[in-house]
Amino acid sequence: MNWYSAGNVSAAVINIKKEVVELNTTKSEELYKIALDLMPGGVNSPVRAFGSVGRNPLFIDHAKGAYVWDVDGNQYIDYVCSWGPGILGHAHPEVIEAVVKACYDGLTFGAPTGKENTLAAMIRELIPSMEMVRMVNSGTEATMSAIRAARGYTGRDKIIKFKGCYHGHSDGLLVQAGSAALTQSVPDSAGVPASFAQQTLVALYNDRDSVRELFENNKDQIAALIVEPVAANMGVVLPEEGFLQFLREITEENGAVLIFDEVITGFRLGIGGAQQWFGVKPDMTTLGKIVGGGMPMAVYGGKKEIMQKVAPTGKVYQAGTLSGNPIATTAGIKTLELLRDNPSIYDRIEANTKKLAAAYKTRAEKFGLKMHINQIGSLMCAFFTDENVKDYAGALSSDTKAYADYFNYMLNNGIYVAPSQFEAMFISGAHSDEDIQKTIDVLLAE
Ligand SMILES: Cc1ncc(COP(=O)(O)O)c(C=O)c1O
Repeated sequence: MNWYSAGNVSAAVINIKKEVVELNTTKSEELYKIALDLMPGGVNSPVRAFGSVGRNPLFIDHAKGAYVWDVDGNQYIDYVCSWGPGILGHAHPEVIEAVVKACYDGLTFGAPTGKENTLAAMIRELIPSMEMVRMVNSGTEATMSAIRAARGYTGRDKIIKFKGCYHGHSDGLLVQAGSAALTQSVPDSAGVPASFAQQTLVALYNDRDSVRELFENNKDQIAALIVEPVAANMGVVLPEEGFLQFLREITEENGAVLIFDEVITGFRLGIGGAQQWFGVKPDMTTLGKIVGGGMPMAVYGGKKEIMQKVAPTGKVYQAGTLSGNPIATTAGIKTLELLRDNPSIYDRIEANTKKLAAAYKTRAEKFGLKMHINQIGSLMCAFFTDENVKDYAGALSSDTKAYADYFNYMLNNGIYVAPSQFEAMFISGAHSDEDIQKTIDVLLAE
C-alpha cells in the first residue's frame, strides 16, 4: 500500500518537502521522518516515540490475534496489546463483525441508544459497585470526571493520589510531591497551574503512614482518594497485603470517596477487576481500555447517590458529543460478552503469564542478571534491579539502560514488549502455547 496516498493527506495541509514527495515507500523510518514534521515527536501519545529505548518507533501496518506487523513487513508477537485493550488479541472476528455491522447503522447520533443500556447493565452485573455509570471517551476523561463528581458530592476540593500511579493527563492529576515531601505538591507538567496542583496531595504507594499523614493534616478537606489498585504505570507494582483494605477504611473514616482507577485492571484481573480480586469495594470506579474493546470508550461510575450528582440529575457538569457512541459501545458489549461467556480465558492467560514470569527468573539466574519480576493475573513486568519492587522508589531503582537493551533484543527477535520500563506487559487470550514457548526460547537463548 502506498502509505502516503493512503493517508489521503492533502498538499494544502502539509508543506510537502522535496524528499517527502519522492517518498513512495512503506518504511517506518521514512514515515517517522514525515511524522516528525506533522506531530510533536511524530506521535499522538509520547510513549509511542520509543524515546527511552534508543531507537525510532515502528509504524504498524496491521495486527491480527497475537501479532502485529510493521510497515516493513516484520511480524512480532505483541505483548503491548495497545496498552491493555487487546485482551482477546487483535481484530477478534466476532468483535469486528459486530462493529462493521453497527457502522452501517450510523457512526454517531448524539442521542441515547439501547446499546448504552445494554453496556451499562453488563457493567453493573459484572462490577456491582458500579450501581450507575456514565460513558466517556478516554481514561483521562473518566478519572477527571469521577473526581469532579466526588468533589460535587462531598463539597470538598482536595484529592489524594499516589506517586507513580497514572490516571491520565488532566491538570489535577499531573502532579508530583514537591520538595517538602508530602506537604506541598507541584505540577508534573508544564502548563499545569501551581494552584491546581496544590489541590492534589501525593502519597506513597504501599505506605500507609504517608496516607495517614495526609488525612491528619487535611481534616475534612479530602474529597477523594484515587488509586490504581494494582499500579501498572510504574511497571507493575502489587498492593501489599491489606493495603487496599486500609485505603477503604481510612477513606470511610474521613468521609472521602475511594476511587479505584481500573482503566488497566478492569476486566483484566478477572471479569470483576481488581475489586473482585482483592475483595475491596470502592465508592467509584473508572474503566477504560478493555471496556471499549479497542475503540475509544471509557466509563466512570459507582454509588448511585454520588452518580446522581452528575448532570442532568445533579449539578456536576460533564458531557460528551461522542460519549456512548454506538460503535464503541458495540465493541465493548461484544468484548465483555466474549469474556463473560468464556471465563476460562482468565485461567489460561494467567497460567501463560506465570510461565513467562518463571522464564524471566530463569533468564536472570542463567545470565546472572539483576532482575525482579512482578506478576499478577495477565499483567507482568521485569525490573532490572535486585530490589523487591513494591513502590515507586523501587521501580526507579531499575536500570533503564538494561531495559532498553532487553527491549531491543526482544524486538530484533520478533517480540514486541513495552518500549518503556514503566509500563506493563500484557498477555492476551490470542497468545498460543507456541507464542509463549517462542518467547521463552528467545528469553533463554542469549
Ligand atoms: C490506570 C490508568 N488510568 C487512566 C489512564 C488514561 O487513559 P487514556 O489514555 O485512555 O486517557 C491510563 C492510561 O494508560 C491508565 O493506565
